[in-house]
Amino acid sequence: MDVLSAIQGRKSIRKYKDKPVEEEKLLKVLEAARISPSARNQQEWKFVVVKDQETRKRLTEAIGQPFVGEAPIILVCCGTEPESVMRGGQLRYTVDLSIATAYMILEAYDLGLGTCWLGSYDETKVKEVLGIPEKVRVVSITPLGYPDESPSPRPRKELDDIIRYDKYE
Ligand SMILES: Cc1cc2nc3c(=O)[nH]c(=O)nc-3n(C[C@H](O)[C@H](O)[C@H](O)COP(=O)(O)O)c2cc1C
Repeated sequence: MDVLSAIQGRKSIRKYKDKPVEEEKLLKVLEAARISPSARNQQEWKFVVVKDQETRKRLTEAIGQPFVGEAPIILVCCGTEPESVMRGGQLRYTVDLSIATAYMILEAYDLGLGTCWLGSYDETKVKEVLGIPEKVRVVSITPLGYPDESPSPRPRKELDDIIRYDKYE
């Protein structure tokens, strides 16, 4: 699959089949994170793969979005050096982890797996459940599993609305 086809075809999946994800597919998704770029190539990140049923249940409660518990795997993407800021003013860890999450989500789609980027969760509770140290930040979470729905593409703005050439205004 070419990259644009994956970007166009991926959709947030909020219903999952009760079917395990093969280890080789999981490893490919994680490889996408491992190889993704990071500022200064620092790779200050950890990805927690949650498979254990009881932990998934507790994690789903901490997230507060029940559909997450349907998926056999929950991926929790953590920035391990939250104080580091780039010269442009942006925090390294949010950018680095967002890229890695996007790459994982696209690889998952190519493998026939569903994901849903989650930005809404109780970070303190998530950290409690997984024993994540205080200074580490949870940037994103996604369920990973076989989709049990095929949603229509959600609307997007037109290129004319979002692209400017040479000058912002
Ligand atoms: C940063 C970010 C945070 C999001 N947080 C949530 C979330 O907490 N729960 C959820 O169900 N979807 C969440 N989404 C999914 C968006 O709602 C979804 O990507 C958007 O509606 C477009 O739909 P699509 O992903 O199917 O193209 C999030 C997406 C992004 C990029």
